[in-house]
Amino acid sequence: MRHVLIAALIAAPALAFAGPAEKTVEARQGFYKLLGANVGVFAAMAKGERDYDAAAAQTAADNIVTLTTYNVGHLYAPGTSSADVEGSRALPKIWEDFPGVQAKGADFVKAAMDMQAVAGQGKAEMAGALGKLGGTCKGCHDTYRAD
Ligand code: HEC
Repeated sequence: MRHVLIAALIAAPALAFAGPAEKTVEARQGFYKLLGANVGVFAAMAKGERDYDAAAAQTAADNIVTLTTYNVGHLYAPGTSSADVEGSRALPKIWEDFPGVQAKGADFVKAAMDMQAVAGQGKAEMAGALGKLGGTCKGCHDTYRAD
């Protein structure tokens, strides 16, 4: 189930029936905003902006793993790249290099599961996993997201 994210990306070209491109971009950005909101919980604790809270950290990690099971295929409908829709930051190369995107997605899914295993065990454990998890977000953004 956790690899649906990856499989869905590969299947995306078959999903050209998606709604208006602008709505698809908004939904895609909403998906990533949810990821960001949960990663933000870890970041605030790691920086000391809020006290470490094992239950809240575990919830954020569980939410992120849940999001990895969301089928994002429709969010990557053709015609929704940064070259097609104003405001989209999804670079056209995504649609030309699904194996590359898949590899970045796999790194992210693994890091999310690693975080889920330790998020509730202590601030140091959570912070260590955060470094790796954040690196996988950046790893995809550096290659496939416009600045
Ligand atoms: C497999 C690639 C990939 C991975 C992994 C990934 N992202 Fe992204 N992310 C994107 C793309 C592509 C966009 C641009 C979407 C758009 O503009 O339509 C994006 C956009 C975003 C945005 C901006 C959303 C907005 O409001 O426009 C945030 C925040 C974000 N990602 C957070 C994260 C976080 C946090 C992680 C890791 C936990 C992550 N992303 C992992 C590809 C990825």
